[in-house]
Amino acid sequence: MFRVLVSDNLSPIGLKLLEEHPEIELDYQPEIHQDVEALKAALQNADGVVIRSGTKLTEDVLTGQERLKVIARAGVGVDNIDLQAATRQGIIVSNTPDGNTLSTAEQTIAMMMGLCRNTGPASQSMREGRWDRKLYTGTQLAGKTIGVVGLGRIGLAVAKRCNGLEMNVLGYDPFLSEERADQQNIELYRDIDELLVKCDIVTVHTPLTDETRGIINAERLAKMKKGVRLINCARGGIIDEQALIEGLESGHVGGAALDVYVTEKPGANDKLASFPNVLCTPHLGASTDEAQEQVAVEAADIVCNFLTKNE
Ligand code: MLT
Repeated sequence: MFRVLVSDNLSPIGLKLLEEHPEIELDYQPEIHQDVEALKAALQNADGVVIRSGTKLTEDVLTGQERLKVIARAGVGVDNIDLQAATRQGIIVSNTPDGNTLSTAEQTIAMMMGLCRNTGPASQSMREGRWDRKLYTGTQLAGKTIGVVGLGRIGLAVAKRCNGLEMNVLGYDPFLSEERADQQNIELYRDIDELLVKCDIVTVHTPLTDETRGIINAERLAKMKKGVRLINCARGGIIDEQALIEGLESGHVGGAALDVYVTEKPGANDKLASFPNVLCTPHLGASTDEAQEQVAVEAADIVCNFLTKNE
């Protein structure tokens, strides 16, 4: 039997697949990632592990894990796994690149619309017994120019939806072919600075790497149109948070919609959340029943197939 640790919450459909597999013994401990020593100990007895974003598989956690052969990340981002440490140990790492795409793209559109129509503060005002239509006059999206930074699966899905909203869609990506961009009705830029100065709204959809950390920084923000709105439903840190705070304080940045943060824990983002023109959600891009079921099934399949068909 192969033992598989699931160290984050996982949709029941994925757990069932693992539980019912005749060669797999499931060890479901969704809270264990909160205790690093307990996590290390549980991994000592695991052939595979399924994680989401709560489990941090650092070098310290992975070093000495002799039994572990495969890590499946139910989700896209693998920035919570030390890939070099895993490779050194001969551990295979796989994500589930497809399952979250539509839900994250839809969250991006919801955040953009909420930001431009003041949905959050307007709803709050009614909860407080007010009826203040003038204060919450918004901005129409049709005819506005949006820059999509990063045209992978999610970026392309966002661009498609923005085209449906009759926006002018510009995209920055070093790898996407001109042909593909044309087919998707995206005006493609290879130079991010040329794109940024033209946009009313900028949304980022890159992974977080050394190249993309702070790709939207103070210098670039200063060159963007006054009143530009920024959206980040990808990874905290792609937009430099301090530069964003300064841009909001000076009024140069007209608003931001944020689903992700450098530090994701209660209270850590109070400053950003305090701006009336900032819409914040706690990393909900992939939080739909559909996405969670799909990534759970994909991750369970990855681990089962790897362990039971690689003997
Ligand atoms: C992902 O990387 O798949 C999403 O950000 C959701 C998550 O972290 O669980």
